[in-house]
Amino acid sequence: MTRRVWLIALMSCWVTVLNPAAAGADTAAGKATFEGLCVNCHGPLGKGDGPAGIDILPAPRDFTVGEFKFDADADGTPGTDADLALVIRDGASVYGGNPLMAPWRQLPEKDIHDVIAYIRTLSKSESAAP
Ligand code: HEC
Repeated sequence: MTRRVWLIALMSCWVTVLNPAAAGADTAAGKATFEGLCVNCHGPLGKGDGPAGIDILPAPRDFTVGEFKFDADADGTPGTDADLALVIRDGASVYGGNPLMAPWRQLPEKDIHDVIAYIRTLSKSESAAP
């Protein structure tokens, strides 16, 4: 019985960590935010090749790769949802990155949460391709 409860608890953690949609993120809303605010640099498919991003160095992150640079919360693991949320909110320069990745402090927490969930789908669809 106890083992069963643990197993269920463990599985629900796993689902929450690996599937942002399960944590209440709205990827459709995230896509709208991305297309409104981020696409100019990060590109329509998130490849970091938007019209305003093409000549920037360090380049806008290519989200299809699914790898991230900054360990913004300094927990030893870069690219967690918490790290991405901090970089989006504070901008990259605070963490030693390109100031052209500007802070988006006006974005509500929920929008940041949703846009991160959407960014994660961009690398998943790439790795699913043959
Ligand atoms: C003016 C261009 C520009 C816009 C607009 C922009 N970014 Fe970026 N972004 C960058 C650049 C440049 C980097 C790379 C920073 C670096 O490596 O120093 C970056 C990096 C990132 C990263 C990677 C962080 C990491 O740890 O690797 C995330 C996440 C990100 N941007 C999210 C967003 C989101 C979400 C938006 C829209 C709300 C957005 N960006 C809008 C230029 C932009």
